[in-house]
Amino acid sequence: MSNTNKRIFLSPPFVGAAERAAVRAAFDSGYVAPCGPQVDEFERRLAKLAGRKYAVAVSSGTAAIDLLMAELGVDETWTVVAPTLTFVATVGPAFHRGAKLVFVDSDATGNIDISLLEKALESLRGKILVIGVDLYGNCCDYGAIAKLCRKFGAVFVTDAAEAVGATRDGRPAGSAGLAGIYSFNGNKIVTTSGGGAIVTDDRGLAERAKKRSQQSREKCAWYEHREVGYNYRLSNILAALGLAQLGRLPAILRKREANFKWYAKNWKGDLLAPTPGANHWLTVALLASRRERDRLLRRFAAADIEARPVWKPLHLQPIFAKCRVFGGEVAKALFERGVCLPSGTGLKSCDFARIARCLK
Ligand SMILES: Cc1ncc(COP(=O)(O)O)c(C=O)c1O
Repeated sequence: MSNTNKRIFLSPPFVGAAERAAVRAAFDSGYVAPCGPQVDEFERRLAKLAGRKYAVAVSSGTAAIDLLMAELGVDETWTVVAPTLTFVATVGPAFHRGAKLVFVDSDATGNIDISLLEKALESLRGKILVIGVDLYGNCCDYGAIAKLCRKFGAVFVTDAAEAVGATRDGRPAGSAGLAGIYSFNGNKIVTTSGGGAIVTDDRGLAERAKKRSQQSREKCAWYEHREVGYNYRLSNILAALGLAQLGRLPAILRKREANFKWYAKNWKGDLLAPTPGANHWLTVALLASRRERDRLLRRFAAADIEARPVWKPLHLQPIFAKCRVFGGEVAKALFERGVCLPSGTGLKSCDFARIARCLK
């Protein structure tokens, strides 16, 4: 069927008969709850994918980050360092806990600038958490960040929400630091409609995160609580959806890479260069100026095609105006020049024909 009249979305869910059958089987099994065999199996598969010993499946990537903050006891005595070029959820849970936020500029890949991170860490004292982010499916420099965190006594976790299936120097996304997190939101490379996970090698962390995600109930016949937890567990029905998606991951990654290659051939301007091992979640075009960016966005909008500016850097967000930032100009320029292009797994040649007309 021709797609000429349908809206083309940026990165819509790519689901079909396999996902429907998996969800139906979970439904028919009676495990219509935030526990069940599919959740257990999903966790086993996620741990393997991440090269980690444990995975804890939860209701969103944001919930996964929040559970890590709870584990570390992040509060107003902590400083949380993150790249400025990321989605707000990277730092939202730390913000809610009163931590001091410090932002660091990007390098040319869009990921955190390692020399500025070093400067930031040199200037900070006390309890420090560094959240590395794998921007648009390009893993940040795990080795370099881990080294700096060791040098300055900071805790390191990875926000690999956008990077499921990606690698860096042969290591899976989310495999660095104390723990990593994934998102399975509807727009992500693998979706459970909404969902997330913590991946870690720390058994105690995994057990405590799982307990906290289930209201921190003690093992007891009645509801006994030594602490107050959260209701963050992933539904078994959604884990079934996630399992079917993981079954397709190699094909999804091949298609995303093919999308990137199509843009590399057909877009005459610059693209944000993916790091080796990227999952090509979103391909980003770099225009000459903010005016050119807005012109391209208007062309897409007129053709009923979804495209978006790059994340607005967090240090430019009104809510974070008082936060310290190291650098900031590179991320600002990427925001002013960058357009996230339609990158869905389901893009067909008729969609690319429409996209091509906007790119001319
Ligand atoms: C970098 C980053 N961190 C965290 C999140 C939060 O994930 P979720 O939407 O599953 O809560 C997202 C995605 O939306 C993200 O892109």
